[in-house]
Amino acid sequence: MSFPNGFLWGGAVAANQVEGAWDVDGRGMSVADVAQYRPDADVKDYKATTGVSMENINRAIAEKDTTYYPKRRGIDFYHRYKEDLALFAEMGFKVLRLSIAWSRIFPTGEEDEPNEKGLAFYRDVFEEMKQLHIQPIVTLSHYEMPLALALKYNGWTDRRLIDLFVKFCTVCFEHFGEYVKLWLNFNEIDSIIRHPFITAGIIPELCEERDDLACCYQAAHHQFVAGAKVTKLMREMIPDAKMGLMLTKLTTYPNTCAPGDVAATQKKNLENLFYADVQVFGEYPRLVLKDLEHRGIAPIMEEGDLALIRENTVDFVSFSYYMTMTESVDPNAERTPGNTVLGVKNPYLPSSEWGWQIDPVGLRVSLIELYDRYKKPLFIVENGLGMRDTVEEDGSIHDNYRIDYFRKHFKEMEAAVDEGVELMGYTSWAPIDLISAGTNQMSKRYGFIYVDQDDLGNGTLDRTKKDSFYWYQKVIATNGRDMG
Ligand code: BG6
Repeated sequence: MSFPNGFLWGGAVAANQVEGAWDVDGRGMSVADVAQYRPDADVKDYKATTGVSMENINRAIAEKDTTYYPKRRGIDFYHRYKEDLALFAEMGFKVLRLSIAWSRIFPTGEEDEPNEKGLAFYRDVFEEMKQLHIQPIVTLSHYEMPLALALKYNGWTDRRLIDLFVKFCTVCFEHFGEYVKLWLNFNEIDSIIRHPFITAGIIPELCEERDDLACCYQAAHHQFVAGAKVTKLMREMIPDAKMGLMLTKLTTYPNTCAPGDVAATQKKNLENLFYADVQVFGEYPRLVLKDLEHRGIAPIMEEGDLALIRENTVDFVSFSYYMTMTESVDPNAERTPGNTVLGVKNPYLPSSEWGWQIDPVGLRVSLIELYDRYKKPLFIVENGLGMRDTVEEDGSIHDNYRIDYFRKHFKEMEAAVDEGVELMGYTSWAPIDLISAGTNQMSKRYGFIYVDQDDLGNGTLDRTKKDSFYWYQKVIATNGRDMG
């Protein structure tokens, strides 16, 4: 058993969680800059840590300090990217997934001309990666749209966002097409219904005419249309590039074999896969659409939308995988949080401090399910373990729990490949500690590289290699043959 030659090993980050420099070189505010770190919030309650209101957005806009707005400072990748890329190269990365912050290129999303300094930053990053032989895979939208578009249009609920996004992507393709051959459209597009603001700039209290959920499905439809337009554009502008969709793979098992649990589970999984179905098959799945119609929340479509979606499907399927859930019809079943979801606890699985259930076999199940359904190459673009790390007196960090997590997941990945799954690559989330998307914490650490910063921004920002750094280096060097 072995991974295919040329397997793309690497790591994944997002601009809003690493760059910092939120008000530098003409960057505009993004939805990530108003995400507040709340020390008292229950980190297992994702609605409390990701929810927004006009009141707290306005308070955030008036506040210039970064202490409680950690995504404004990130880990200062904006100024330290050379050091970080060198460390990734030392680990042997073949690929690095990163995103381009829309508000660094178009500060409010509506300027006629792009911000030259923003373009220069990404050009420098891609040039440096080229020197280090690290291939980029770039997410065009990763939880960081210009805040101005959320405030003016209520984000993606408004159809005008389609053209504004296409304009941004045109600039990205024009300036970075020579470096970037792998693109992803919307990070975890399915998360619109779980955290509408950071995914699509939707401020629920502005959803006047239609209810919140209707707003979310309308926004998703606009993203499907935008995604199709952008795929078409990419094929015209960079013929040798490929476009992938990006799904949060939320595999759900029935909590028991009671038929009611099985039926409820089937519905959950279909709802999750819906977002990939549209982008791979080029049409809305009949079952989900019917359900939305019955609930009165089906999106309004314009003539030509469905033809565009049908004619411009994606080349590959990428996804994040962290945990699995179960589903039960019993209202008293014990629940546990996952990646911005709440599901029924699985008695067979351990959980992290954040309640996310650790399930390596679930990765194999997910790979096989996705490949069998879509018959497209797959790319795991996020997988990892958020934990607190302890720095020993001599500065070392012994994160055996992280090594154990990855080893078990890699073995299942290998088994899926062996069964015939076409897997292009794997990027861990995240190769370096960064700000958590869900809780805005620094102490929820994912990296092979430790960053000296606490939740309130104290620390030197120095980078230190954890034990997992050397382990992953060995895995990559042997193309997964040595996971010991
Ligand atoms: C994914 C996101 O949902 O999960 C990332 O694409 C995020 O941006 C990752 O960081 C882990 O979630 P969290 O909340 O632990 O940062």
